[in-house]
Amino acid sequence: MNFPSLHLIKNIDSKEFQNDLIGWYLSEKRELPWRKDQDPYKVWVSEIMLQQTRVDTVIPYFNRFIDSFPTIEALADAEEEKVLKAWEGLGYYSRVRNLQQAVREVKEQYGGIVPQTKEEISQLKGVGPYTSGAILSIAYGVPEPAVDGNVMRVMSRILSIWDDIAKASSRKIFEEAVRQLISKEDPSSFNQALMELGALICTPTSPSCLLCPVREHCQAFHEGVQAELPVKTKKKNMKHLHLGATVIETPEGEFLIQKRPDTGLLAKLWEFPNVELSSSGNPKQDVELFLKKEYGIDAVLQSDSLAKIQHVFSHLTWDIDVYYGNANIERLSKEKSQLVSAEQLETYAFSVSHQKIWKKVKEEKRT
Ligand code: ADE
Repeated sequence: MNFPSLHLIKNIDSKEFQNDLIGWYLSEKRELPWRKDQDPYKVWVSEIMLQQTRVDTVIPYFNRFIDSFPTIEALADAEEEKVLKAWEGLGYYSRVRNLQQAVREVKEQYGGIVPQTKEEISQLKGVGPYTSGAILSIAYGVPEPAVDGNVMRVMSRILSIWDDIAKASSRKIFEEAVRQLISKEDPSSFNQALMELGALICTPTSPSCLLCPVREHCQAFHEGVQAELPVKTKKKNMKHLHLGATVIETPEGEFLIQKRPDTGLLAKLWEFPNVELSSSGNPKQDVELFLKKEYGIDAVLQSDSLAKIQHVFSHLTWDIDVYYGNANIERLSKEKSQLVSAEQLETYAFSVSHQKIWKKVKEEKRT
């Protein structure tokens, strides 16, 4: 393949670049729980969690997840519901469903050892080019690029690459750049140093060039264009949904919950019954009609909504009006619905927006 943007690599002394970058990393790197050892399983879990999620958020989840599922076997043998519960609140839940499916495959096909070749590891569910490169380099010392959005930002500046990083096809250009520059002696530190540089110095807005260990090698700094890079076009517009959700409590003090479908957004997570509201209608009435139609329930909902909750996904925003109500429920006719006590409810994995709904209900009951 031809990479016209990459003639600029010729301007870099790769040995000096590696030394400056890795030297800085070894003295300045943060102590993070997944850096304590090179267990490929832990590297894998951390890299999956760190996709789309900030380091500070990931740390407690990682520690709890590894306590609960310390090995490939433990995760492979765990109940899916328990695994989802451990991921509750991290978002992008297909990550953990894929992870469990993939570790089951590693257990069965590779005797519980994470494979060490690009070909094999890339076939595992949820392991794309970034994750495979990260595991191979960090756990096994293989000089493979691990290019995510942060690394693209850093490399676009160092090499003054003006390709649009929002385009899927651009990743290959950056992978080729890293492939040419990566240290063969210490690819683990090299890749992690690029990530660390992106997190601590070469940040999206106002990068700290004066503190940068590779400033001398940085094309964008020399040209004064670091603030203009990377080129990243905006994603197309977001979709909005207006939902009515309802917390129904029975005289026995049980709550009605339902499980989301096996595929799609927030698959298999639990939530309170909810329905898309019509733009013209009365939200409370829409919710009552829905309860009657879907559950056969005559509920008395409080007239004012208990809360309005907004949740922003990468491509979609939910605006949820929440109603509390009481109802007698003799028999549950709807599939995948359950009546549970308040205590039981908290053992189920809920999406973040519905956790917020539950929190609101509890606050309300206390006052
Ligand atoms: N972001 C992605 N992978 C990372 C890692 N291993 N350490 C810190 N930040 C990261």
